[in-house]
Amino acid sequence: MRFAVISDIHSNFMALENALCTIEDMRRRGEGVDGIIFLGDYLTDFPYPQNTLRLIDECIAEFPCHFVRGNREDYLIRHRHAPNEGWSYSSSSGSLLYTYENLTEADLDRIESFSHCINITTKNLPTITACHGSPGDSKEWIMNRPQLIDKYTTEIAGELLLCGHTHRGGIVEANGRRVIFCPSVGLPQDRRYGSRMLILESKRGVWRYNSIPVGYDKNKMLAEFHRSGLYEKAGVWARCIIKSMFDEHDHAARCVALAWRKATADGFSGGQVLPEKYWTDAAAELGII
Ligand SMILES: [Fe+2]
Repeated sequence: MRFAVISDIHSNFMALENALCTIEDMRRRGEGVDGIIFLGDYLTDFPYPQNTLRLIDECIAEFPCHFVRGNREDYLIRHRHAPNEGWSYSSSSGSLLYTYENLTEADLDRIESFSHCINITTKNLPTITACHGSPGDSKEWIMNRPQLIDKYTTEIAGELLLCGHTHRGGIVEANGRRVIFCPSVGLPQDRRYGSRMLILESKRGVWRYNSIPVGYDKNKMLAEFHRSGLYEKAGVWARCIIKSMFDEHDHAARCVALAWRKATADGFSGGQVLPEKYWTDAAAELGII
């Protein structure tokens, strides 16, 4: 029994396409997968989200697929039901709004149908529990948090917990269970891992995994940022994502944290939407623009 595990695509359709080519190559070699487990954050950040959804459709046509919902899908669904939350073409929300505007009602229905946490059972093998951040919250970070690891490894139905959200790989054991953090295929944020997917394979009744690198043409993707209009619509955020694409550090998190520090020091209290000035000041200080 063999699964491909794909997490945090973030609309990077080129990385996803190459991951699927690798899966196809494995099939030709007689090492085909029996299914694909997707760990959420399919959309936002990279251009043309419809391309990612089209590739996922191709997966559904070829393999049994298992899906969980990421925090990015949560944001899109929340906007669907409460559209007046101030999204605009800006550094704060331009990437989200661009993505939302490229989705159909059917696309939104589909991502809304995904659960936050699923159990995957296969004959004579340990049950797999799959989620994005944690089984309890798509945005919760449990890597290197022993208390949360202890809590969830006690609570889950599976003997193996698969998590995305960290954009870096890792494995930890607790309470006789294993937690595997799947690297990001679309937007890695740790150079030690890069763009990767996992191949999860049963050997003598236990799950073992391999991490497979996934390459794509980053300069070609950069051109798509411009061609799509996302580069203009998402302001500093798009520049952070592009810089992360090339050097695999989390520039968006650093930039937003510094921008908020600058705004707070200035006495800004205007709610959730940070003025562009703080974004550009922070990005300039961090060498992003
Ligand atoms: Fe993510």
